[in-house]
Order: sequence, then C-alpha cells, then structure tokens
Amino acid sequence: MQLNITKADQLKTKPDDSKLSFGTIFTDYMFNMDYNPQDGWHNPRIEPYAPINMDPATMVLHYGQGVFEGLKAYRTETGAVQLFRPKDNFKRMNNSSRLLCIPEIDENFALDALKELLIIEKDWVPSALGTSLYIRPTIIATDPFLGVRASHTYRFFIIFSPVGAYYPEGFNPVKIWVTRNHVRAVRGGVGEAKTPGNYAASLYAGEQAHKHGYTQVLWLDGIEQEYIEEVGAMNIFFVINGELITPILNGSILPGITRDSVINLAKMWGIKVSERKIGISEVVDVHASGKLDEIFGSGTAAVISPVGEIKYGDTVITVSDGKVGAMANRFYKELTDIQYGKTKDPAGWIEPI
Ligand code: PLP
Ligand code: COI
Repeated sequence: MQLNITKADQLKTKPDDSKLSFGTIFTDYMFNMDYNPQDGWHNPRIEPYAPINMDPATMVLHYGQGVFEGLKAYRTETGAVQLFRPKDNFKRMNNSSRLLCIPEIDENFALDALKELLIIEKDWVPSALGTSLYIRPTIIATDPFLGVRASHTYRFFIIFSPVGAYYPEGFNPVKIWVTRNHVRAVRGGVGEAKTPGNYAASLYAGEQAHKHGYTQVLWLDGIEQEYIEEVGAMNIFFVINGELITPILNGSILPGITRDSVINLAKMWGIKVSERKIGISEVVDVHASGKLDEIFGSGTAAVISPVGEIKYGDTVITVSDGKVGAMANRFYKELTDIQYGKTKDPAGWIEPI
C-alpha cells in the first residue's frame, strides 16, 4: 500500500521540554487509514494533525466501538529516537479489535507507518529527563447508524503527544483506594481489551478515590470482589517476603507490556516471581504480619509507580514507610535505562528509528 504524505503549511511552536505534563500537547502530523468491506484497510496517509469531521450518528460516539494503544518513543543520550516493544502494542491492538468486532490491521504495515510518522516528527521527541513522545494508535467505528451492531466502516489513526510524568507525584509513591462498591470489568467481558468503555466505567469510582485523597482505584474482581485485578492505568505488583507477585491474566485485566517486561527482568535477575490470584485479605494479612515489602504499578504512561498507601474500607496500609521501595527502584532504573538506551537491550525490546 502506498503511504501518501500531505505537508502542513505551518508548523506549531514546540513546548519547553522541562514543563511537560501528560497528554495536553499534540504534534504537527497524524497518520490516518480507512476501512470499508470492499477495499479493506486502504488509503494510508500522513496528514497535518486536524479535528475529525464526524456525523453526530457516528457509531463510536454512541456505542463505544473502538480500541486504542499507548506506547512511547524515547530520545537517547546520543540524540537517536527509539521505540519500546512496539510490535507488542500492535499485536495487542488486534487482540482488542477481535473482542470488539473490529477488522484487524496488518501489524507490520502499522509499525512501518508509525516509523514514517516518527521520522517526520522526530524533533517533537523531547529530551528532558523523564520525558518521551507518547503514541496513541486508535481505531474507531465510523458508520453513521443508530442500530446496535458492528460498524461496517472504521478509521485507524495515530497521534503523538510529548509528555512528562503521568502522575503529578512523578516517581514518588502514590496512594490508592480499594473499593467493593464498584467493579471495572468481569471475566467474559472486555476487560482485557484496551477499549474506551473500560475507562468510562472507571471514572465514577476514580472520582470517589480523589474525593478521599487517593490518586487511583485498585480494582477487585467483579465476581467475588476479593481478588486484586489492576489499577486504572497500570498493572500491579506486590513484593511479599522477597517474592514478586502479580495477578494472573484472567481475561478481565489488561495484559500490560510493562508488566511482561518486569516479569522477564525479574526472571533474568533470579527473583522469584509468581502470576497468581492474590486477594485483598491476603494483602491485609501479610501487611499485619510484617511481610509486605512493597507494592508498585507498571504501565507505559505510569512507568513504575511505587504505592505508598492503600485504603480498603477502614483499613489503611502504609507500604515501605510511604517511601520508594528497593525493588520498584531497581525495575524503574533498569526499564528506563533500556528505554532511553543507557543500557543494553536484554531481549530485543528496542526498535530503533
Ligand atoms: N492496565 C490498564 C487499564 C492500562 O490502561 C494500562 C496502560 O496501558 C496498563 C494496565 C499497563 O499496560 P502497558 O504496560 O502495556 O502500558
Ligand atoms: C498507557 O499507559 O499507555 C495508558 O494507556 C494508560 C492511560 C493513559 C489510559
């Protein structure tokens, strides 16, 4: 497929790298491609970043049939630009699409298109400490139709946003809130897909958490409301008696690429790591017996995010004395050193541009 490029008349002023927050600034260009049943995915193009003109009946607006991804491009010390595990993002995007009845994309073509866009936009990759270019591939259902069925037409687009830390806390411990009053996803649903509805479903409880002074919600399973699932924008790890434990992928949590990287690094380092069901009662108990060493989250936007406090009902647990734990620190350093090209890539995770 031929990738067409339309040049922008004018380029935007780039922001000050040292003042970046998350997801507020967008670059000069975007990638677009369309789908219809006759032509399949067609008309791939790089165009100036612009609003999408939509019929008010466009299906994604009504029924949320869409999927998205999140990955980052990093600037290395030598000024080069590199991606972290991008093939895994396009693979996961297709897995999400299958659950949402969206036609799959050609993963290799999508990666090539992303690289083309990055080459054009490379000056937007920031270089201040802890910054990167966040990449948001997205597919939306575009039929103007009010009946409930899968759309026949779609738009796939990729946009870029230069970012700093996701949480205002940066790499300082966050406080998370556990509730039995709300659930985010259930097994058999679409919890393992990266689809807008999962995030919409998390907002109400998220607001409750904020009202209580907590940054995010730690979700429990939707059936017994006992087993730990994940946090709003990251997977979760517990260090209990020196062992690293993370909830097993059960269909209702996102199979995080950072999660998989942490598990792989732990195995390389000889740290005992288990993917298993872990209950909130177990966490409360091991904390009471002094065996809860650390809790931290993992995600593309969140990187490694230490958890300093958990609130569950009336129980408040302070973890690692509210400080950054040794294990969180080690994973943060190694992962970011790999992502920013400061250390050798141990597993073919880096894709140079
Ligand atoms: N869980 C949820 C709900 C997320 O939104 C994310 C972020 O993408 C993650 C986990 C972490 O996934 P990854 O490490 O692939 O970014
Ligand atoms: C990511 O980490 O890429 C996410 O998608 C999390 C959040 C911004 C939705």
